[in-house]
Amino acid sequence: MGDSQFVKKIVCVGAGYVGGPTMTIIANKCPNYKVTVVDISQDRIDAWNSDELPIFEPGLQERVEKVRGKNLFFTTDIDAQIADADIIFVCVNTPTKTFGEGAGSAVDLQYVEMTARRIKENATSDTIVVEKSTLPVRAAQALGTILHSGNNSVHFEILSNPEFMAEGTGIQDMEFPDRILIGSQDTPSGNAARDELMKIYLHWVPKEKLITTNLWSSELSKLVSNAFLAQRISSINSISAICEATEADIEEVSMAVGKDSRVGEKFLRAGVGFGGSCFRKDILNLVYLCEHYQLHPVAEFWRQVISINDYQMDRFVKRILSSLFNTLAGKKIALFGFAFKPDTGDTRDSPAIYISKKLYEEQAELNITDPHAIPNAKRDLQGFEDRVNFIEDPYKAAEGAHCIALLTEWKEYASLDYQKIYDSMEKPAFIFDGRNLLDHKKLYDIGFNVYPVGKPALEHS
Ligand code: NAD
Ligand code: UGA
Repeated sequence: MGDSQFVKKIVCVGAGYVGGPTMTIIANKCPNYKVTVVDISQDRIDAWNSDELPIFEPGLQERVEKVRGKNLFFTTDIDAQIADADIIFVCVNTPTKTFGEGAGSAVDLQYVEMTARRIKENATSDTIVVEKSTLPVRAAQALGTILHSGNNSVHFEILSNPEFMAEGTGIQDMEFPDRILIGSQDTPSGNAARDELMKIYLHWVPKEKLITTNLWSSELSKLVSNAFLAQRISSINSISAICEATEADIEEVSMAVGKDSRVGEKFLRAGVGFGGSCFRKDILNLVYLCEHYQLHPVAEFWRQVISINDYQMDRFVKRILSSLFNTLAGKKIALFGFAFKPDTGDTRDSPAIYISKKLYEEQAELNITDPHAIPNAKRDLQGFEDRVNFIEDPYKAAEGAHCIALLTEWKEYASLDYQKIYDSMEKPAFIFDGRNLLDHKKLYDIGFNVYPVGKPALEHS
């Protein structure tokens, strides 16, 4: 198919966890659009063009293979692609700033600004620029100022179209989204751009799921969505501490509370705390915005969501320490799972990183196992190799260990032969189920001392 047969040319800047999968879905659903994903990282682009994609996401590989080279392309030729684009999605990373003013809470906007400058310099005709990266409220204003600066006469219309997919279920989330949010300016060109973007989604998303708002509401809604989701996890995790103190059972409490349709059942699973590249970063972003607008009590309210998450990870480590007779020095601990959640190899801000480092500080030796995250875990724990081993086989990881700490609820961990594992471990053998995945009574009957989250421990005297 020659380029002239495509109705529109879409370019996505940023070939990461969001850019790659979202564009794959658009290319699959809209064969008459040419979709090109660009990135500054040659390695990432090479991986997207290979049989080994740079990210693991169930269902992604086959969808990429179906359209790659037909209407989905990956390249580092950024400038030429921008020059040719009708619609540009900005999907670059927006990490928390680690330097200067706002370090530790504000968003580092350098990648977004670099992208905007490159678009300004290379665009040759009127272009719709879509913010898909998660950005602070009113970022579109700054983006507009950069894009329209200088003497390029091209008109840029900026839309906000935040992404709500979760890793591990990304394909399902994108193919059957709860909603697609589009924020635009209420001007003739703003409305026309919004309609162009809606046209793309209408290829597979029912019209009633397309929500339109003003730009600022859209930008803020993304931050608030993540803040609300994380807040539910911190709420239930805070209650798990009360459960452990009182012998109430967090799963029973969660079920009883979630049955109220006003509360709902989802996102009430207690665990070792939330991880992932976005919850902490986006809440910190919200906190920074609140402080910027002098809304200190509001900032404090949201900051607590993060404090409870940190508290939950600390509690987990302290429980291991106190149960193993207050010393971990020289003891071997098998960590089952390192990814921040199952069905992804992503370990960004995974509770496993923090927990591993804390256990290492206590001079434990760690055997880390995970079905997909070992390469990332190795990067995260660089410098700790003297007492950290990465072992693919969970049975081998548990051999000779004093304790197992389950940190990611990979379903394969539920069906392991725990009798065999128990037999190979030091005694007394301990298991800390940080995700309440396992059959605790069965483990206890095998001989383990069992420590779920938010439930009474099952200890042999
Ligand atoms: P990522 O780090 O996986 O990918 C970002 C990519 O952008 C990288 O490959 C990087 O090389 C590239 N990049 C950076 N600067 C560039 C530039 N100037 N030109 C070209 N490429 C450039 O990040 P991600 O997880 O895909 O997240 C992207 C955005 O989406 C973030 O704002 C994030 O908050 C948001 N988001 C992420 C998720 C998720 O599940 N990961 C979900 C919803 C929203
Ligand atoms: C989250 C949101 O769910 C997405 O809507 C959003 O688009 C995305 O962040 C983003 O902006 O990046 P994600 O981080 O991929 O998606 O995964 P989640 O399923 O939300 O899980 C996040 C963390 O919360 C995981 O560590 C998970 O184990 C934990 N979690 C989740 C719990 O501890 N309990 C729960 O009940 C649910």
